[in-house]
Amino acid sequence: MTAKQPSTFKQASQGASVPNDLEPFWMPFTANRQFKKSPRLLAGAKDMHYTTVDGRQVLDATAGLWCVNAGHGRAPIVEAVQAQVEQMDYAPAFQMGHPAAFELAARLTAMMPAGLDHVFFTNSGSEAVDTALKIAIAYHRIRGEGARTRLIGRERGYHGVGFGGISVGGIAPNRKFFGSLIPGVDHLPHTHSLQHNANTRGQPEWGAHLADDLERIVALHDASTIAAVIVEPVAGSTGVLVPPKGYLERLREICTRHGILLIFDEVITGFGRLGAAFAADYFGVTPDLMTTAKGLSNGTVPMGAVIASKAIYDAFMQGPEGTIELFHGYTYSGHPLACAAALASLDVYRDEGLFERAAALAPYWEDAVHSLQDSASVIDVRNIGLVAGIELAAREGSPGARAFDIFTGCYEDGVLIRTTADTVALSPPLIVSKPQIDEIIETLGQQIKAAA
Ligand SMILES: Cc1ncc(COP(=O)(O)O)c(C=O)c1O
Repeated sequence: MTAKQPSTFKQASQGASVPNDLEPFWMPFTANRQFKKSPRLLAGAKDMHYTTVDGRQVLDATAGLWCVNAGHGRAPIVEAVQAQVEQMDYAPAFQMGHPAAFELAARLTAMMPAGLDHVFFTNSGSEAVDTALKIAIAYHRIRGEGARTRLIGRERGYHGVGFGGISVGGIAPNRKFFGSLIPGVDHLPHTHSLQHNANTRGQPEWGAHLADDLERIVALHDASTIAAVIVEPVAGSTGVLVPPKGYLERLREICTRHGILLIFDEVITGFGRLGAAFAADYFGVTPDLMTTAKGLSNGTVPMGAVIASKAIYDAFMQGPEGTIELFHGYTYSGHPLACAAALASLDVYRDEGLFERAAALAPYWEDAVHSLQDSASVIDVRNIGLVAGIELAAREGSPGARAFDIFTGCYEDGVLIRTTADTVALSPPLIVSKPQIDEIIETLGQQIKAAA
């Protein structure tokens, strides 16, 4: 057998290496064949901009994938990771520890709403979600309520791509190819309504009653069979759905009344996206478990974390001291490089007051994104903190095509946006300036017009 030749590299115009062969890499959540015919390759990143392999600057209106909240290539984060890799590359995660993981857990719990005070590290949002679901089910079992296994998600929810996450998630293409998923899952209705809430600034007035559907599910199955409810406080990946006023409060109240754990998936909303440290702070509603990732390490090194209430942690700390309390974990839980990146990211967020900055910019952002309301084909604009969703009418017979044209047009014109179906989702790094907001909106507005 002749060995395969490794792919060779050619020089792009500005000196970046570009592989000749794009075929071997099976890209995630990407139209592979379309992409490989017309690739979009990034070679560098600094502050608010990417540099493409051919040397063009692209303004990042999506914080990478909702994760680079402090902006790209920030020196304190880069240097912390460099120092850590030189000092210690890896430490075993089971039955061994290293100081930075404990320091990070303490820093995180100090930022959390009161009562959330123990941290379990993962490597991604998907792993954080599956970890939280497992903790919820195991928690009830060790308390002698082992019949509480049922999980409640929400239509249009996105909780990553593990089997747990897609089972409680509510996005059909993410679910339909993968068999029967995990059993015993119900879904609340989503909260999106163009009829009642189109072009709302911030939280809609209509829709708190949709939380009452949880009572219907409880009546159907009995609370004694239900472990947890998981929701994104603001649904991100499905196209930015802001919770109606009173909705999360009502979910909290119903969960508490029935002994059901409430999990907030804050993978997107955590670390300043709404102009507060967490959505739990922004809305004044505290869950029993919180999942985080993305902004935790500013996207620099993969990391996720589940933050659990004292009651949950304490329930596990029973029995002989030599017993492992939770049979769960990852080789890279609390990886030293991820901890270094996260600690430095938290420093940057604090030292530069980035969460407060996001809050201060939010009204300007709101006015800017709502200026697109009257553009042809725009059917809804929604916003909160430094997030916005701009929903477009789908082209007859080709859903998503209009938004994709806008996405590629913006990229050619030097702005990176994100689209999901026919909604444009914007979530710039929290260091974005007002002129950069103007640039994002102007470029997007032109491309919306071009795609009308
Ligand atoms: C709310 C939410 N949960 C979980 C995830 C999954 O995170 P990851 O892609 O790091 O596995 C995402 C990713 O976008 C998310 O938005």
